[in-house]
Amino acid sequence: MKEIVCTIENNHQYNIIIQNGLLDQIGKLANLFDKYKNVVIITDKNVAKYYLTKVKKQLRKLGLDVYAIIITPGEISKSLAETEEIYYKLQDIGVTRTDLIIALGGGVVGDLAGFVAATYLRGIDFIQMPTSLLAMVDSSVGGKVGVDLGFSKNIIGSFYQPKLVLTDPKCLETLPDKYLTDGMGEVIKYGCISSSKLFLRLMSFQYQEDLLEDMEEIIAKCVTIKRNVVEADEKESGIRRILNFGHTIGHVVESYFKFKRFTHGEAVAIGMYQITKMSTQEGITTSKALENLRYILETYGLPWELPEMDKNKVIEILSKDKKFEGDTLNVCVIPKIGQAEIVKIQKDQAIQLFK
Ligand SMILES: NC(=O)c1ccc[n+]([C@@H]2O[C@H](COP(=O)([O-])OP(=O)(O)OC[C@H]3O[C@@H](n4cnc5c(N)ncnc54)[C@H](O)[C@@H]3O)[C@@H](O)[C@H]2O)c1
Repeated sequence: MKEIVCTIENNHQYNIIIQNGLLDQIGKLANLFDKYKNVVIITDKNVAKYYLTKVKKQLRKLGLDVYAIIITPGEISKSLAETEEIYYKLQDIGVTRTDLIIALGGGVVGDLAGFVAATYLRGIDFIQMPTSLLAMVDSSVGGKVGVDLGFSKNIIGSFYQPKLVLTDPKCLETLPDKYLTDGMGEVIKYGCISSSKLFLRLMSFQYQEDLLEDMEEIIAKCVTIKRNVVEADEKESGIRRILNFGHTIGHVVESYFKFKRFTHGEAVAIGMYQITKMSTQEGITTSKALENLRYILETYGLPWELPEMDKNKVIEILSKDKKFEGDTLNVCVIPKIGQAEIVKIQKDQAIQLFK
């Protein structure tokens, strides 16, 4: 079992517990739930099929009244319309400020349920139980919650920290391969920006079974890196920007194809490679690092080549990037594997990245 403590600005502290089989052992964590009466589990249909009954059963054994709200899987549910529907369901249940929301699922469920928790009755407690790799290593930690507005991703939201994160890497056994590969994009990112040791370890796996066996350790490493960055910069005004390695180009690629052709992890993989190609040309990154990055992306079945895109449309999407400060964009580059720095580039330089 790995336990990581996350402390943020106003001294709010929460634990991130990572353990194989943890969802079968919630009953042992009775003290973490004893102040609640009602618990509402928000989950999606796919995740509910595998895990809802077992989580519900154990919480009921702790004497809690347990309710479930099951949403349609996928990004489509990260909307204001779905948020409103959930508010009405919480009202029907009679949820009060001393009750608890549990987000049981991937990043979609986590972001949506977290946003609901942040805003319903001006904020009620919530716990993250991430079930996808992306949610385990990234979205369940850091407190970013929110929903989309049409094709504008995560444009409505808040910073709202969970009370607890319970991560069971065994859930990855039922995660479709496509999403495992997707999550590996983020795992590789952590190696690139902060740990050459993690990167080398990822390079050494020959079979998926070996990777899964080591997941508790790998997730703990990624979460520790994210925790350190988030603790230093909760609201993303400085160091937290390194977590966006590969994301500027990645977001453009995702949006250009309306989130259909590439998953988030695939788009970030392309972004990481392309920005590193630029920083190598500029003499910031060693060519060995670029070579290793390409090798690892290929090993995990992730793309690195920029797809063909219309330049005008690219400029239109890029211009809407929330990270622009005037005409300047802060982007993360890696001088070598395991080390990140932020450089400022001008808008026309950013456009050149898509040539
Ligand atoms: N808040 C943050 O800091 C942050 C960071 C990165 C990404 N995100 C958000 O996360 C979302 C993507 O997350 P995601 O990739 O987890 O997508 P997702 O939640 O849609 O999950 C992917 C798919 O896997 C299924 N699934 C999840 N866990 C499963 C399991 N154990 N077994 C079987 N099926 C399972 C889901 O039903 C879904 O179909 C995006 O909306 C993105 O914006 C948020």
